Amino acid sequence: MRFSQRVQSLPPYLFAGIERQIAERRAAGVDVISLGIGDPDLPTPSHIVEALAEAAADPATHQYPSNQGEPAFREAVAGFYFTRFGVELDPASEIVPLLGAKEGIAHVGLALLDQCDVALAADPGYPVYVTGPMLADGTAVSLPLVRELGFQPDLEAVEPSVLAKARMMFVSYPNNPTGAVIEDDFFARLVAFAAENDLVVVHDNAYADITYDGYVAPSFLETPGARDVGVEMFSLSKSYNMTGWRSGAMVGNRDLVDAYWRLKTNMDSGMFGAVQRASVAALSGPQHCVREMCEVYQRRRDLLVEVLRTVGMHVEPPKGTIYLWAPVPDGHTSASFTAQVLDQADVVITPGAAYGAGGEGYVRLSLTVPDERLREAVQRIEERVRI
Ligand code: MLT
Repeated sequence: MRFSQRVQSLPPYLFAGIERQIAERRAAGVDVISLGIGDPDLPTPSHIVEALAEAAADPATHQYPSNQGEPAFREAVAGFYFTRFGVELDPASEIVPLLGAKEGIAHVGLALLDQCDVALAADPGYPVYVTGPMLADGTAVSLPLVRELGFQPDLEAVEPSVLAKARMMFVSYPNNPTGAVIEDDFFARLVAFAAENDLVVVHDNAYADITYDGYVAPSFLETPGARDVGVEMFSLSKSYNMTGWRSGAMVGNRDLVDAYWRLKTNMDSGMFGAVQRASVAALSGPQHCVREMCEVYQRRRDLLVEVLRTVGMHVEPPKGTIYLWAPVPDGHTSASFTAQVLDQADVVITPGAAYGAGGEGYVRLSLTVPDERLREAVQRIEERVRI
């Protein structure tokens, strides 16, 4: 069989490879602890599960859903955005459901890029910021996140020749993988930069409510003018432990929302109606479960930071996301240190270079394993990993 150039040049998804490594070791009887993928271990809150069960029993949810989403779903997203961020969204024209934010990130390039057009991709960044544009026959060009700038990009440093071809850019705060958050006027500068250069901003807002130490993350859409230049990919996955449910929404610029809806009607048949109703329960129901979960992650974060420091790795506790972004010890690359931790401690961590060239020199550790497994992992790292 002959495959398209597109598929031939597509790397396997990062965590597909890691999943295989874990499966091989487990099949050989090794007790592997994975701090790899950011997949919450805590269950989805029960009121959301109950809403799903009830909705799944209703035959009205068994037929094709509307690709535009049930009005109740779009109104719940709008209500959430207003209560949480003070952002008013028109449910009829500024919201379209996504089968998880990943769907929108992977496919939005199909609405914006023609062959050889450029997407600026935060580097380090979620791998789909690179592979999504590839699917659209575009090109992702690295937008380096600068450590000294709090892992923000230096917008002034983007080459004019690249800017001339660039149509869109991907950024995300709270940031995967670095854990960086926005505490200054970056979003205002981003809006001005996008307007000046005729670029569409795609802000990946998957971690908005996973924050610590009293920090509250803004939505990109809070910034004046943001809606004119971009959209936000909103996700229920991390806030409500719903990674398996595939529920999210693209919100913001109505022209892009409309173009994306048109694309979607040709690609998929929408989100299961029962998942939409459960998402309404998540967004409109009690929110204390989200803060409680953040307290769990914050405790795990502090434990991990402390142990990493005792083994000689200086890590700043992040104010957001479920990840620690740690510089590797001297003499290591991100791949060699990851391999060493796996070989000596049977603990999976993710090499920073997998998030782009800008991730070299770092590893990412996820906080999404139960406390006792995290303690076991840190004990193994402390006792077995010789730096
Ligand atoms: C991550 O670990 O970066 C993400 O949760 C994985 C994903 O979204 O595929």
